Amino acid sequence: MEDKIKEFEQDIEKLLIKSKDEAESFRIKFLGSKNVLKDLFSEIRNVPQDKRKAVGQLINKLKNKAQDKLDKFTHDSESQEDENSDLDLTLPGENVSLGSRHPISLVTEQIVDIFKRIGFNVSEGPEIEDDWHNFSALNLPEEHPARDMQDTFFIEKDPDYLLRTHTSSVQVRVMENQKPPIRTITPGRVFRNEAISARAHCFFHQVEGLYIDKKVSFADLKQTLDFFAKELFGETAKIRMRPSYFPFTEPSAEVDVSCTLCNTKGCNVCKYTGWLEILGCGMVDPNVLKNCGIDPEVYSGFAFGMGVERIAQLKYQVKDLRLYSENDVRFLNQFKSAL
Ligand code: PHE
Repeated sequence: MEDKIKEFEQDIEKLLIKSKDEAESFRIKFLGSKNVLKDLFSEIRNVPQDKRKAVGQLINKLKNKAQDKLDKFTHDSESQEDENSDLDLTLPGENVSLGSRHPISLVTEQIVDIFKRIGFNVSEGPEIEDDWHNFSALNLPEEHPARDMQDTFFIEKDPDYLLRTHTSSVQVRVMENQKPPIRTITPGRVFRNEAISARAHCFFHQVEGLYIDKKVSFADLKQTLDFFAKELFGETAKIRMRPSYFPFTEPSAEVDVSCTLCNTKGCNVCKYTGWLEILGCGMVDPNVLKNCGIDPEVYSGFAFGMGVERIAQLKYQVKDLRLYSENDVRFLNQFKSAL
């Protein structure tokens, strides 16, 4: 028995493993499921009782020796492979393609930056609103026909919870919680129950602005928006105001910017009018100030609101609103240079 063990030991030591095939035959012989050492183990019962333990340990040692030899071969051949691999460090690396900012984020940021430069801060509020902040405080009591101007997604009735239809709701929250002077802009996502088409979507983004102080006038509003239009569309941009109606402002106006493509001469982007509508605005209605705890005898203010998709559409000539939310990388990649 001991001779046999010696013999195997010499075998294991002497055998040269030079290839993967040889390594595999070595593994099968000494470590596989029907290996030769198993025979030795089964012969242990013929060994006298007092020597069994020692013999068992010897066979175990043999097994470990075989395993070590195999491990060494595997390790050596792997590091050999690394050295011989045809890795060419002079080749150019693989391009990691960078994502790009979404056009809506880009334009929101541009708008916000312009107003920050003239002293506006940024306020945010919840997308799920109550009736008071979205409608009632803004001079839109229940049953008021102007509520129909904004088709609403209601979440709960009585008391009403809804998806905000404009970020004017945030302005109400600011007026309720801060004392004038207030100069703030409110970027955010808003929702309206409209059929999705190239020109309308059930959600979009707004930036609204609010300025409340003593003696704020319509001239301040006009000057602020003129500055904004020139910063966003370029020095040559002009604005014009058309009378309009919003329940929360009086007087109210809609603002057009001169078409930057044709310089008011008329083209297919401005539908041959020379002007593009960009926002709604007006002097904050005294009722709204009162609703929010601000004395309209002391303070006045202006407010404005614009759709970010609309502005982005004009800046980047996007013809279909749906592109903004379809996440098609062919569309999104075009804004890489605008980073
Ligand atoms: N809240 C209006 C809208 O969403 C926009 C607006 C804001 C108009 C402030 C006037 C003053 O349509």
